[in-house]
Amino acid sequence: MKIKKAILTGGGRATRLHPITTTINKHLLPLANKPMIFHAIEKAVEAGIEEIFINTNPGEKDLENNIGDGGHWGIKIKFFEQTGGPQGIAHVVNEAKQFIGDDPFMFYLSDNIILGSIKPMFEDFENGNFDCMLALSEVPDPQRFGVPIFDENNKLIDVLEKPVNPQNNFAVTGIYLYGPKLFFETFEKIEKSDRGEYEISSIHSHFLKNNKNVGYKEITGWWKDTGKIEDMLIANRLLLEEMPESDFPNHGTLESGVKISGKVHIGLGSRVDSKVVLNGPVIIGENCVLENCEIGPNTTIGTGCEIRQAVIKDSIVLDNTFVDAPLVIKESLIGKNVKIIKKTTTDGGSMIVGDKTIIEI
Ligand code: G1P
Repeated sequence: MKIKKAILTGGGRATRLHPITTTINKHLLPLANKPMIFHAIEKAVEAGIEEIFINTNPGEKDLENNIGDGGHWGIKIKFFEQTGGPQGIAHVVNEAKQFIGDDPFMFYLSDNIILGSIKPMFEDFENGNFDCMLALSEVPDPQRFGVPIFDENNKLIDVLEKPVNPQNNFAVTGIYLYGPKLFFETFEKIEKSDRGEYEISSIHSHFLKNNKNVGYKEITGWWKDTGKIEDMLIANRLLLEEMPESDFPNHGTLESGVKISGKVHIGLGSRVDSKVVLNGPVIIGENCVLENCEIGPNTTIGTGCEIRQAVIKDSIVLDNTFVDAPLVIKESLIGKNVKIIKKTTTDGGSMIVGDKTIIEI
């Protein structure tokens, strides 16, 4: 029973990432200079997925415009709007029922970033006789997640959503495999939780209480759901570390004297002057100008940015941002079209700062 279809999440408001996500869909925020959801699509394609259905916020076309029809990855991608407002992730899956039909499928929360492949999970599912397979990961804070419950013989017997006192340190991650039909039949039988959502854990709990064959596979590599800025920075660093040297070509123009160490990718049309220090891993997007600055490690700079005087490390900078100030900026997420400038006079600097912005200087 080969899985060829997948549903990916693309909606939501991502309030924990405000103010950045007031103007950009969270799933388009770059990690290793690639929209977050591209990483999910690539994991799916590598596992053999041929058709992907992505849910979008009503009226929003940004995802579609950035992702296209899937031709880029040699697959088909379609988008669907969730009707009736946000009602939980199990509801998102149910909204895609018409596309899935009677086929087995994967559901993937696109803000879940993993290192390594999900192919072994697909192989276990396809070679066994499973109704469902969950990917588990050991975490320090299981109360934030769905948590698997095991009996004394280590048999999976339930899944609890965000339990106050978790039985163990495992989280059910946002990567799920399902056999034909059962998900949609079960959705009709579950109720909304106290937080007003159709929980994916209620589906799994129902499966287990009705003796369905629910398997699990531990993600032994690294896994994170990137709900917070700190998580994004860690994901950015680990993805950069994982990427092979060959993914870091230099397509830019470098003056002699530039100091480069480690893996550094410089995009087409970017100019780097002789007084720049680049400490890899670093990705500089296309058409950037870097002068008298130090970038990295673990830093990605979007397209069309100009950076002068500053030191920027362990950070993500989005497109068309302009920094010209002798500042050390670390562990930061800087949006698009931002200007950070050192005034040459001493009569005070002026600022236009959006809601919920954090400035520590
Ligand atoms: C959702 C699921 C939860 C799962 C988590 C993984 O939680 O409800 O079971 O462990 O994703 O990212 P949410 O992120 O919606 O709070």
